[in-house]
Amino acid sequence: MANDRRNRAWYGKLDKDGFIHRSWMKNQGFPDHAFDGRPVIGICNTWSELTPCNSGLRELAEGVKRGVWEAGGFPVEFPVMSLGETQMKPTAMLFRNLLAMDVEESIRAYGMDGVVLLGGCDKTTPGQLMGAASVDLPTIVVSSGPMLNGKWQGKDIGSGTDVWKFSEAVRAGEMTLHDFMAAESGMSRSKGVCMTMGTASTMASLVEAMGMSLPTNAALPAVDARRMALAHLTGKRIVEMVEEDLKPSDILTKEAFENAILANAAVGGSTNAVVHLLALAGRVGVDLTLSDFEIGSDVPLLVNCMPSGKYLMEDFCYAGGMPVVLKELSAKLRAAKTVLGGDISAYAEGAECWNRDVIRSFDEPLKPAAGLRVLRGNLAPRGAIVKPSAATDALLEHEAEAYVFESIEDLKANIDRDDLPVTPDTILVLKGCGPKGYPGMPEVGNMPIPAKLVKEGVRDMIRVSDARMSGTAFGTVILHVSPEANDGGTLALVKTGDRIKVSASNGVLELLVSDKELEARRANWQPEPPHYTRGYAKMYIDHVLQADQGADLDFLVGKDTRPVTRESH
Ligand code: FES
Ligand code: MG
Repeated sequence: MANDRRNRAWYGKLDKDGFIHRSWMKNQGFPDHAFDGRPVIGICNTWSELTPCNSGLRELAEGVKRGVWEAGGFPVEFPVMSLGETQMKPTAMLFRNLLAMDVEESIRAYGMDGVVLLGGCDKTTPGQLMGAASVDLPTIVVSSGPMLNGKWQGKDIGSGTDVWKFSEAVRAGEMTLHDFMAAESGMSRSKGVCMTMGTASTMASLVEAMGMSLPTNAALPAVDARRMALAHLTGKRIVEMVEEDLKPSDILTKEAFENAILANAAVGGSTNAVVHLLALAGRVGVDLTLSDFEIGSDVPLLVNCMPSGKYLMEDFCYAGGMPVVLKELSAKLRAAKTVLGGDISAYAEGAECWNRDVIRSFDEPLKPAAGLRVLRGNLAPRGAIVKPSAATDALLEHEAEAYVFESIEDLKANIDRDDLPVTPDTILVLKGCGPKGYPGMPEVGNMPIPAKLVKEGVRDMIRVSDARMSGTAFGTVILHVSPEANDGGTLALVKTGDRIKVSASNGVLELLVSDKELEARRANWQPEPPHYTRGYAKMYIDHVLQADQGADLDFLVGKDTRPVTRESH
């Protein structure tokens, strides 16, 4: 057994401190040989009944433990803060960086040699990866896996995506409230994450494409027995990774991030991947910028899943999952090491597609050039993004008058007014929903279509904000405008009636107002007082970076891999 293994500074000491570290652990019935120097594997678990998407992670932890014991390691499970996307107010994103801090400090403070991250719901995967990357011990991910397909009235229905559709149908008078509420139970039929290609399945897909999980991790349903077997295999593998000293910094290279960007385009992935990848890159010291996302813009849409397509994650799994996508992308993929120690191309070896309507070939895609577009201009000097695969093509090149909502409260109070002065051409603008503003950059960027237009059958309009949107959402929605309104961005200065020009093909988001006029408006602009003045939220508002830098906290960027030398007694 290696004497220089990290856990020896806890469990290998023959003094008072070693006694304390071992003896108290033994109260759980661990035998002497658990402390003989074998790799100690932390199982970092975001299980919570308030994060229903992660409610299967306790069982998966048992699978991981079997594999760790089998490989000669010592598994120890520990909880970290969990982030229930659908349950937390004002938004789970406010707490992603807090989870990352919890993960980082837990890993650093305890005597482990490697880590298995158990997460799934939207913010849990990036939060865990960010924290683990800042300690840089050997790390591997096991995701919750998606729920079974939603089923209702004889049809498949998708998490999130069909909520947005049904709620617009109710507002249009095309669906009864009774039916709307009845669909709730059909939508979420098993443990697991949203079974659309929302942020959770997007991040799991990108984790696989970056080689941070074993192959097939992204798509296996949460309740599929093969996911339990995958957890077991992951437990075996992390012990070997400790022996090989294979760390996130060896895997999360610039090339791995580029592979994630390419994969995100091919799967029709969430816009949220942008802030999460940027934040993760900041932790590992990879120089990734918003402009790097442009390498995905000519990648075709291959995966026919909601919200960009029609199928769901179960279908994606049975069609072959991410290994097939990686195979289709093989001509574009960069060489990058994975948790298996080899190149990412090995994940695609032998992959076969079992349903070509669900996973298209590179040459016969669902849509050409589907990757996210970065928009810039005086309205977003540091960038904004739009997801063409989920947008209306005709609206991607557009110029029209803006109608401005000054806050989310303004929007909620007025969006359904019969006399709202908007047409289907109007560009809806929402302020105050960025990282500092809401705070936490909530998923409200896909503003509802004004009721009077919904009733006329309008289902999409251009919407511009400093917010994010759910990965399950769709529409011509321009998001992450940086700097945000509350940070003094030009967005704060837009007035109803101003003209805005959008060109996705040219990457343009321009407010057609003269510099002189904008200067005059800026001289009169007052930042609104922060919504929180104490605690974590205050720290967040004071230190959060803008969306183009991943909305991490400024003092969390980077890592600290120094050993912890001081003892508690
Ligand atoms: Fe948790 Fe969608 S809400 S994965
Ligand atoms: Mg979400």
